[in-house]
Amino acid sequence: MIRLEHISFRYRSAQDPVLRDVSCHIRRGELVGLLGRSGSGRSTLASTLNGTIPHLVRGDLTGRVLIDGQDIRAQRPRDLADRIGFVFQDFEAQLFSTNVSLEVAFGPENLGVHPTEIARRVDSCLGVVRLSHLSHKAPAALSGGQKQRLALASVLALEPTVLILDEPTSDLDPNEKTEVIKYIKEIGKDRTILLSTHNLAEVEEACARAIIVSKGRVVADGPIDQIRAKTGRVRYVLTVDERDAEAGKKPPSATEIQDALSALERASGVRELPTDESVHRFELAGPEDTDLRASLFRLAVAKGWTLLELRRESQSLDAVFRDLTREDQMASRGLPSEAEDEDEEEDEEGDEESEEDEEDEGQDDEEDEDAVAKKSGKSGSTPSGRKD
Ligand SMILES: Nc1ncnc2c1ncn2[C@@H]1O[C@H](COP(=O)(O)OP(=O)(O)O)[C@@H](O)[C@H]1O
Ligand SMILES: [Mg+2]
Repeated sequence: MIRLEHISFRYRSAQDPVLRDVSCHIRRGELVGLLGRSGSGRSTLASTLNGTIPHLVRGDLTGRVLIDGQDIRAQRPRDLADRIGFVFQDFEAQLFSTNVSLEVAFGPENLGVHPTEIARRVDSCLGVVRLSHLSHKAPAALSGGQKQRLALASVLALEPTVLILDEPTSDLDPNEKTEVIKYIKEIGKDRTILLSTHNLAEVEEACARAIIVSKGRVVADGPIDQIRAKTGRVRYVLTVDERDAEAGKKPPSATEIQDALSALERASGVRELPTDESVHRFELAGPEDTDLRASLFRLAVAKGWTLLELRRESQSLDAVFRDLTREDQMASRGLPSEAEDEDEEEDEEGDEESEEDEEDEGQDDEEDEDAVAKKSGKSGSTPSGRKD
């Protein structure tokens, strides 16, 4: 349905390309998540699917975009508009009418849809995004989240078979986000959708497949489960009492535990975790096809340790994502793209982890970012890169 072949793109004002030899495809009826950190090139990539928008005119594009097997350069913009609907990250620039109903009617009118049919679509699309009660209001007078829902309704009114949604929930509150994602999932059943976001939870909720981009390259493409399993490792966390041990034995020191765990067959990456309790907490990694819990339990028994906790966790999508997009994270902090020293790299990841964990705990991660963007004078998100 949509096929990108060796797409590279460089903004004329920039030295380095933003997209580097991107090839991927989206089959008819698929709902694919496009994941990447801010600045990774997602908006630019989404824009290549619409050869007419101004910011692509500002750069050099090589490669081909095929829609239904046909190069988009050979298709009339009007024919494309009929089939592909875009909700751009800069959705405010998409709103030009004097009231909400007219805004939704605008696109279908342009395509020559019959007035009765337009009225039906306006009703139904405003209902879907819960804006019916504001149909006579001026778009400019809506809140950020309402504007974003209006932009979505306007695109849905075109009834496109393909939808390109660039951060469609960035300005929504947590409840609105959940509703919109639920709706996208629903309409995704009979449409082809590319959902660009940096919110992993949304992709996990709605998509069976994801494409992850980092520094303008595709670093993962496939079913979410396969991406999650990409590292082929699982993580164990083990907690041992530092004051108590089997009668007649001395409680273990951290070094003793470290050495014993490191000697365990198939265990790797043994590392002490910080804790403020009177315990020693360690993490280690093991291959996905093995369960080391029995060996860890027996080790604790043999040594006389008081084992307080033992868990085995699969690598989260989040951890894989962090791993795969580390380059973007480094670049956004002005750090060289490859850590020369292993330790440095680990420290880097450590920092990153605590930061991201905080982010992922609430659903408001994007809101925080948007708040920052607003403070710095950028109201919406623009394809020209923000939130860095
Ligand atoms: N109009 C532009 N001119 C020059 N550089 C741009 C422009 N738009 C975006 N960029 C740069 O291209 C990179 C990718 O941007 P973008 O595609 O918006 O990423 P994302 O959507 O993943 O956050 C960023 O480094 C950004 O600063
Ligand atoms: Mg973007």
